[in-house]
Order: sequence, then C-alpha cells, then structure tokens
Amino acid sequence: MHNLFILGSPRRNGNSAKMAKAVANGCLQKPGNSVEFVHICDLTISPCLACGGCSSTGNCVIDDDMIQLYTKTDAADRLFFVSPVYFYTMTAQIKAYIDRCQAKWSRKYLLKKVHRPNEQRTGHLLSCGATKGDKLFDASILTVKSLCDTLDLEYGLPLLIRNVESADALKKIPNKLADCELFGSRIASGN
Ligand SMILES: Cc1cc2nc3c(=O)[nH]c(=O)nc-3n(C[C@H](O)[C@H](O)[C@H](O)COP(=O)(O)O)c2cc1C
Repeated sequence: MHNLFILGSPRRNGNSAKMAKAVANGCLQKPGNSVEFVHICDLTISPCLACGGCSSTGNCVIDDDMIQLYTKTDAADRLFFVSPVYFYTMTAQIKAYIDRCQAKWSRKYLLKKVHRPNEQRTGHLLSCGATKGDKLFDASILTVKSLCDTLDLEYGLPLLIRNVESADALKKIPNKLADCELFGSRIASGN
C-alpha cells in the first residue's frame, strides 16, 4: 500500500507535519507499506479558475505543479490530507489542491468515469488546532468527506488534536506522538 501524505501547513516541521511523520512511521511498521510526503508549500498550485475547462475533458487547463500531484493522488492507495485549522477550516495551501480536484469531480460526475472502482482506497484527515471547541474540525471534516467522494475514496478515520499552537507544542505533550504512530499502524492494519 502506498500512503501519500499531502501537507498543507506553511510550517514544514510544525505540529501537523509531526503528526504526519508519526502516522507514517506507524504505517511503515506494517509490511508492504510505503510512504511519501508532499508539502504543498514547496509547490506552485494556483487556485481553481472556474473556467469550466475540465467539464468536457476531465483535465485542468492550468499547467503547474498540480499536474504531478494529480498523478500521485491517482496512484496512492491511501491518502492523508494533513492541515492545521485556519479560521475553522483548512489552510489556503491545501484548499488550492482540493479546489483543483474539481477536474476529478467533472471526470466523475459529468463524464461518469469512476477511478479505480472496487478498490478499497481510503482518505484520512489529520488536523490540529490551537483551541479546544467541539466544532473545531467540523468544516475540515466536511471538506475532506466531499473530497473523498470526488476522488472515489472511502472517508476513513480522522486524527484530530486540539490545544496545540506553537510549532513544538505537540511534541511537548506526553505520549501524543506515540498515539499518532499507533493510529498509523492501526490504519495500515485495516483496524
Ligand atoms: C492564519 C491562522 C489561522 C488560525 N486559525 C485557527 C482557528 O480558527 N482555530 C484554532 O484553534 N487555531 C487556529 N490557528 C492555530 C493553528 O491551527 C495551530 O497553531 C496549529 O498547531 C498549527 O499547525 P502547524 O504547526 O502544523 O502549522 C490558526 C493559525 C493561523 C496561522
């Protein structure tokens, strides 16, 4: 199983990136798993133009780094969408990637093409935020559920961590990274 982590934070080694690394280590404990990280802040991904170009072809007209990310997204067996909460939703960086998946939406719903049918591919939200409210992850969950539907992924278990603000906050909480690793190994075991 190839596990693709798409990271949306501009902090390359912040809390969500540490969550992703720990979850990946957990996945790697299970034989047959490989992991790959894509930091969107390293790429140039323009926002969707709503030009309608993908409606008839299923392909986006914009020629930028999203082209390689479409290929990686299609090839992965399991996807992790990794983002801190920004204003109760996901970061602009990962939202650009998500909105560019409108080409996949066109492919599925307008052109009636299902990608890798009958395969049990899953998509997971990994997220963290500084505050503690019940609704902190509601918008991100809804967004990732919608993305999973578009990408023909089953929406899988999310990993959500509250109360982390500074970039090193997560690693100061006892056992948190070990919990993330355990989450990864369970996901990779199908539990
Ligand atoms: C622009 C911006 C908006 C934010 N909005 C929220 C928010 O709405 N709720 C919250 O709990 N934390 C918010 N935060 C805090 C981050 O979610 C928190 O610091 C998180 O741990 C950052 O993860 P990272 O280290 O992976 O970047 C915001 C931070 C920034 C920079």
